Amino acid sequence: MGKYEIALIGLSVMGQNLSLNIAKNHSIAVYNRTSSKTENFMNNKVKNENIKATYSIEELLDSLEKPRKVMLMIKAGKPVDLVIEELKPHLESGDIIIDGGNSYFEDTNRRNKILAEDGIHYLGVGISGGEYGALHGPSIMPGGDQEAYAEVEKIFEDAAAKTEHGNCVSYLGPNSAGHYVKMVHNGIEYGIMESIAEVYDYMRKVIKLNPEEMSRVFADWNEEFKSYLIEITAEILQRDDLETDEKLIDIILDKAKHKGTGKWSVQSALDLGTAVPTINAGVNARLMSALKVERIENSALFDQPKKAKVNIEKILPKLKSALYLTSLSAYAEGFKLLKAASEEYNYDLNYQEIARIWEDGCIIRSGLLQPIQKAFAENKNLKTLITAPQFRIKLYQDAKNTRDVINTAAESELPLPAVHSALDYFFSLKSKELPANLIQAQRDFFGAHTYQRRDKEGSFHTEWE
Ligand SMILES: NC(=O)c1ccc[n+]([C@@H]2O[C@H](COP(=O)([O-])OP(=O)(O)OC[C@H]3O[C@@H](n4cnc5c(N)ncnc54)[C@H](OP(=O)(O)O)[C@@H]3O)[C@@H](O)[C@H]2O)c1
Repeated sequence: MGKYEIALIGLSVMGQNLSLNIAKNHSIAVYNRTSSKTENFMNNKVKNENIKATYSIEELLDSLEKPRKVMLMIKAGKPVDLVIEELKPHLESGDIIIDGGNSYFEDTNRRNKILAEDGIHYLGVGISGGEYGALHGPSIMPGGDQEAYAEVEKIFEDAAAKTEHGNCVSYLGPNSAGHYVKMVHNGIEYGIMESIAEVYDYMRKVIKLNPEEMSRVFADWNEEFKSYLIEITAEILQRDDLETDEKLIDIILDKAKHKGTGKWSVQSALDLGTAVPTINAGVNARLMSALKVERIENSALFDQPKKAKVNIEKILPKLKSALYLTSLSAYAEGFKLLKAASEEYNYDLNYQEIARIWEDGCIIRSGLLQPIQKAFAENKNLKTLITAPQFRIKLYQDAKNTRDVINTAAESELPLPAVHSALDYFFSLKSKELPANLIQAQRDFFGAHTYQRRDKEGSFHTEWE
């Protein structure tokens, strides 16, 4: 074979599967720092002549047609800088580096700027869908130089998941737009995962359903939600442990890990002055879960909570409402954050298009993404999804239903941080009057920070003492 269309560096789970996916339609040369991984991949997974193994950066780059397109699927952070440094001496103006990992968006801006000095294009591309998606069609979120994107567009279009509305890939905007959108995608993922986990906790502790029963409830609800995360939850709850007579879910330790994208979403939201309480609850809940030993010690110091008595027939639909409200809140917060970022960083994001490319292939795909697209199609300047006609009435009814879940959870001393946060987010956003007048008075009292008045323009200070 002659020269190859694209190169991929990093043959861990994502890189291997993405290479196999790309190779269905395009030729690709691959490289991994540890060569045994490349050999293993070639011997055990590759049956396609479109994939060429290479064992040095020089060999990799020599295999490519020009302009050379090199995709990185490696650990985010320092490794990306190291590999770029390795590549740079061998690249020339017009070549394109594509970072397909979960890189921090500010790092992408920095790399973009440095490489542009040598005429090298840099695309920050978010890829979602885990290892299954990488192989069968992920959701792809590209950002960076639009002309450089045109060089790889066909490859991404062919690799992406496909729906009746098109392929789940779309050029999103300049600079770090792709990585920013992927970061917020992951933030929403944190919020939805926590919502499902809290509903599960309520079902097992307050209603006292067993995993099989919970699985059936989630599967039944998912006829309506059409959510990938609810679908896998129903499957997880069915799974037997191979070493005991228990369900696997009851054997797994309740300590959740995190890699950073959820935390970055919250940090960035704070920087942009945007509230993302449900997403934040998802991040905080993982931090609280990590205090396993402390939680066990503390629990011994308190009476064991008595569970509220609930009527299963009546409470289950309300719990479903709580899940709907909380999931939608995670999306609503995420899109509001994207709007703030688009304005601040000049990404010029198209929210309808973002909802479209999340419709399949990615972890947060769900039935909510179609009405979200419709909401943005009808009103490009929509400030929040909670007021969109697609959601407003149902959301208000669901908020009313959620109050019963919150009350019985509090009676049972069951923490539901994401559900609480979503309900408060909804109530706050639709509150004509919030108590911030008192906050302003307090700030002015102790710090002379001044306040505005309702009856006239200007800044005012009162000598309080
Ligand atoms: N796993 C997922 O479900 C998922 C989903 C979406 C996005 N992502 C993102 O996709 C990227 C790849 O993820 P992954 O889970 O497949 O792999 P990973 O565990 O994040 O990274 C492992 C890969 O990085 C390479 N690497 C690490 N340090 C390196 C260095 N200094 N120089 C050269 N190569 C280096 C490793 O090479 P060696 O084999 O030589 O160590 C290996 O190929 C990450 O940014 C990840 O956040 C992952």
